[in-house]
Amino acid sequence: MPLIRYIEHDGTEHEQEVALGTSLMEGASRNGIPGILGDCGGSCACGTCHIYVDESWVDRLAPMDEGQEMMLEYAVDRRPTSRLACQITVTADMDGFVARTPVRQHTE
Ligand code: FES
Repeated sequence: MPLIRYIEHDGTEHEQEVALGTSLMEGASRNGIPGILGDCGGSCACGTCHIYVDESWVDRLAPMDEGQEMMLEYAVDRRPTSRLACQITVTADMDGFVARTPVRQHTE
């Protein structure tokens, strides 16, 4: 399974193996990783799985579809590397993938 690096806004890092075919949001929520809420369960309807993809990885992702683009229009603190974690499916070539979480999605 690919090892995904989830990095919180304060630099706290969580390395987590995530099963192929699951989303980055599922990989975080199933393993208690903070900062990715996933309130809609992955149906691209809440925006609470907003992440910043590391610049070294963002060009390797498929382009965003219209639904993801529309949802991110409402995201607070959107950046050019913003994506929705529920819309990124883990593949074998994603070992070492880096996803950072926005400060506003941390509830503490
Ligand atoms: Fe709701 Fe991703 S989990 S948009």
